[in-house]
Amino acid sequence: MVVSAAAAKEEAGLGALDRLLAATAAEMEKVNALILKRADSHVEMVPQLARYLIEAGGKRLRPMLTVAAALLFDAPTGAQTNYAAAVEFMHNATLLHDDVVDESDMRRGRPAARMIWGNQASVLVGDFLLGQAFLMMVETGKLDALGVLASAATVIAEGEVFQLSKAGDLAATPADYDQVIRAKTATLFQAAAEVGAMAGGADETGRAALREYGLQLGLAFQLVDDVLDYRGEAGAMGKNTGDDLREGKMTLPVILTLADANPAEREIIAAALGKPEASETALDQVVAIMNRHNALGRTVDKAHEHVRLARAALEPVKASGMRTILSDIAEFYVSRAY
Ligand code: IPE
Ligand code: IPE
Ligand code: MG
Ligand code: MG
Repeated sequence: MVVSAAAAKEEAGLGALDRLLAATAAEMEKVNALILKRADSHVEMVPQLARYLIEAGGKRLRPMLTVAAALLFDAPTGAQTNYAAAVEFMHNATLLHDDVVDESDMRRGRPAARMIWGNQASVLVGDFLLGQAFLMMVETGKLDALGVLASAATVIAEGEVFQLSKAGDLAATPADYDQVIRAKTATLFQAAAEVGAMAGGADETGRAALREYGLQLGLAFQLVDDVLDYRGEAGAMGKNTGDDLREGKMTLPVILTLADANPAEREIIAAALGKPEASETALDQVVAIMNRHNALGRTVDKAHEHVRLARAALEPVKASGMRTILSDIAEFYVSRAY
């Protein structure tokens, strides 16, 4: 039977998201209350800026992952509420910092916080959120889980710095890109899933399974995000598209295209790469070249490979409704690319 991409998305995807939301709703209510509480401070600008970002929502994918991972196992400790809030705080801190580094104007469908409060306040409130994240971890008294998130924080920063060092580098390779996205994005997904499993009382096998699942899901997620930067819609994404090219970010679509491009095509790409003033027409030309070489399609294929690995990683975990949801949700986040 031939099914359209849209129908496949409906089936594999939306159903899975609804099921994940329903299965984690009660726990996420606690997590969201804790997130709002811990964004508070006697220094007025802190909660103003933090709440502006937090209340804009976001998908809350990482904390849902933590909660879902905890519910997969039989001996829940309750620590997942703190872990999930800490994970989302770490994520929000990186977003505040990332928008300064990337000079991005839009986030979660609103002007980025830095457009209202400025770069300095955004960096400082990011630091505040990071500090609160670690406090919430410490409050659970679990040093091993704290270790997982503390290592993630350092690796994420390394990933962002490595990416910066490769900006505009026409010689960047798929291996460089893989190193960047493992560090800057997949590490937090990995940590979110792993600490969730720990909160659920998982044994070593379960913990390793969730760790691998999170890593593979995170890789697929960033690959798709990088495709959408070229062919997504700003409205649906809540952030501007075309930024990666203008920032000179060496994502897989551009790396694959440069490897196959003829000299004339290379010149067009090089002329727009890293140029904040590149026009929409220039961007459209680059996307046309990418499509000529099927670079966006090949990037989506790569995301699918990671989805398969994510699903396979769950095999050692006892079968349950939650395991099926986690397996299907990986497909959903890749279906965003169609
Ligand atoms: C944005 O993450 C940063 C990336 C890793 C691409 P999300 O797309 O999960 O952001 P929110 O939390 O939903 O806004
Ligand atoms: C996302 O990086 C990863 C982190 C925030 C650490 P990007 O720069 O690709 O994400 P967007 O496109 O700004 O969301
Ligand atoms: Mg960015
Ligand atoms: Mg991006």
